[in-house]
Amino acid sequence: MKEDPSALWRGSSEELLKALHILTRDGKLNADSRRKLKQVHHLAQLIEPLIRNLHSSESGLTVVDMGAGKSYLGFILTDLYLKNLAGARMVSIENRPELIERSRKLASDSGFSIMDFIASTIGEAQVEGKVDLVTALHACDTATDDAIRFGLRHHARAFALVPCCQAEVSAQLGEIPSAERSPLYRQALHRREFGSHLTNVIRTLYLSSLGYQVTVTELVGWEHSMKNELILAEKKSGPEHPEALRSKQQLEELLLAFPIRPTLLK
Ligand SMILES: C[S@@+](CC[C@H](N)C(=O)[O-])C[C@H]1O[C@@H](n2cnc3c(N)ncnc32)[C@H](O)[C@@H]1O
Repeated sequence: MKEDPSALWRGSSEELLKALHILTRDGKLNADSRRKLKQVHHLAQLIEPLIRNLHSSESGLTVVDMGAGKSYLGFILTDLYLKNLAGARMVSIENRPELIERSRKLASDSGFSIMDFIASTIGEAQVEGKVDLVTALHACDTATDDAIRFGLRHHARAFALVPCCQAEVSAQLGEIPSAERSPLYRQALHRREFGSHLTNVIRTLYLSSLGYQVTVTELVGWEHSMKNELILAEKKSGPEHPEALRSKQQLEELLLAFPIRPTLLK
């Protein structure tokens, strides 16, 4: 059966997708754009329930996207859900000023006045006012940890994170003398995969130890991307809750078992 390509962007305006260069001028998709659009649309749909839960007519809603790149996610969230939501604000943070400039112009041309763009590293980003939801789609290596730390500093009520390739913990496991390395990470390839897995487990346990309810799922089928783990976290309790205390203990046990120092916990 032939695929209807417009099903991939149902709800988003075709003009916006052309301006983002996701669609060609004649409305076509190449393979890379198809993959990206599918990911971003799917992520937006998974984020939509959080937007509904977190928005209030009194205080609105602020979403901050970290390592935004060309701000595909911010534009699609704005187009689909935020532009007509009272008091909604979408802030994109990206350390490449030329991408920020381009996105700022596109937002202005599209009439998306609720969008703000900040050219900064995540670690140094200054966002005024409250932050409700932090998103980070494929923020490189430890940039996902910086996004979590930023969100925690701003008392974010939820996170939607799709981590990117992870090198930090794998490198730290490589510093362990080879005779002492567990077979779990003795081979370089296993070290990379295991380091990445360990990092994401630490991220989920850390958020859970602070009272966030965490779910980890696949974003889209593996054929679309190898960086496909989606961590959704929503604040439900405090660090004294039994579930949070259990996660804290499990995190401590994990850190005793593996001599690593991930950015998130530094
Ligand atoms: C793989 S791209 C993903 C872009 C976008 N989120 C997407 O999925 O289309 C990662 C982006 O994060 C930015 N980045 C990486 N580390 C960063 C940091 N510490 N602070 C701000 N931006 C960062 C890079 O410049 C790049 O544009």
